[in-house]
Amino acid sequence: MADTLRAGVIGLGWAGQQHMKAYAADPRTELVGLAGMESDALARLGDEYGVEHRYADYADLIARGELDVISVCTPTSLHAPMSIAALDAGLHVLSEKPMAENATRAKEMVAAAERNDRVLDISFNHRRRGDVTEAKKLIEAGVLGRIYYAKAGWLRRSGIPGLGSWFTKKTLAGGGPMMDIGVHMLDIALHLMGEPEVKAVSGASYAEFGPRGRGAATGYAGTKTGSGDTSYEVEDLATAFVRLEGGSTGDPGLTSTLLLESSWASYIPEDQIYCTLYGTEGGATIGWSRPGGGDQSLEVWTQLAGVPADVRPAIGPSHGHDAAVADFLTTVGSGDWADHRGQVGLTRALIIDACYASADAGAEIVL
Ligand SMILES: NC(=O)c1ccc[n+]([C@@H]2O[C@H](COP(=O)([O-])OP(=O)(O)OC[C@H]3O[C@@H](n4cnc5c(N)ncnc54)[C@H](O)[C@@H]3O)[C@@H](O)[C@H]2O)c1
Repeated sequence: MADTLRAGVIGLGWAGQQHMKAYAADPRTELVGLAGMESDALARLGDEYGVEHRYADYADLIARGELDVISVCTPTSLHAPMSIAALDAGLHVLSEKPMAENATRAKEMVAAAERNDRVLDISFNHRRRGDVTEAKKLIEAGVLGRIYYAKAGWLRRSGIPGLGSWFTKKTLAGGGPMMDIGVHMLDIALHLMGEPEVKAVSGASYAEFGPRGRGAATGYAGTKTGSGDTSYEVEDLATAFVRLEGGSTGDPGLTSTLLLESSWASYIPEDQIYCTLYGTEGGATIGWSRPGGGDQSLEVWTQLAGVPADVRPAIGPSHGHDAAVADFLTTVGSGDWADHRGQVGLTRALIIDACYASADAGAEIVL
């Protein structure tokens, strides 16, 4: 492999552009290839980043781009076929979240990474936020003790991303807000709890806004791939009760619980994005109400020498896709790839699959 990694990006939407920016800014890579179906955006972004190889068909980029690494930033049901094709061609892959439209497809991606001995990472940018990063440091230092309960959610007042676009089609997206934004909060909660093992999931889901044409995000309409067909096939609110065991903040065998909720549209005063942790030595909550996160917060409740103490730790700089891409490149460069075959994304996919299966069955799903 050359000293400088040759990078490509499939997908020219908001997500793809975050990956392009990150590769272009990282001295370890050269952004040499793009693929996407909007010819005007392909030309504009290709010129902006001085990209040599530009294709409408991603297979051409994989075959002729002479790449080392590639980001897959397309509608969710394309993550598996595109990632598997890239892995089989010997590339390392950073796929956008959610990993795939279901856990079966996610497992196929893991298998492709294993058989080709390549890195497969999933871009969970929100765990790189300043409040999450500082909370993780405090948890690892034992400030919260053993975390036995957590609540996490991302709820929007009116935020269906492109009502009628691929986001609202079951076969393309796999599901609604639980797949799209709930997965970020699931990732943050499991990351902070030290990756406990999932035992069982009980879920419920509702579609009360989308089918009636309500709840569309302003500013999104018509900008997403496939916009136009107004049929609505996914939930607009989902909630899950997740039974967990072990994890680095608890002894093996000890159980914990996560209550997860997500919605694209609901009658609430304002958007809510939060993760609250209940530990044996302290509690903590992180939260913000805008995706940009300028209003992010971290609060810790504990006791110091027996005296109740409310602490507002200083929050360091926030990162997102820049850090997700940088961490991926560091892993590729390290040669230490065994823990980077997509396992983290698969765990989240299994929980979300179980949430939907439980909602359909009206009963808890034991994993
Ligand atoms: N991590 C985050 O914060 C974040 C934010 C937004 C979206 N996403 C994820 O990123 C992915 C893309 O979302 P988006 O909002 O950018 O979508 P989008 O609809 O804006 O863009 C999708 C892109 O994929 C391209 N594409 C579709 N089919 C293709 C094909 N067969 N070959 C080549 N290109 C093809 C389209 O041309 C388009 O450029 C989704 O999985 C989404 O969940 C992640």
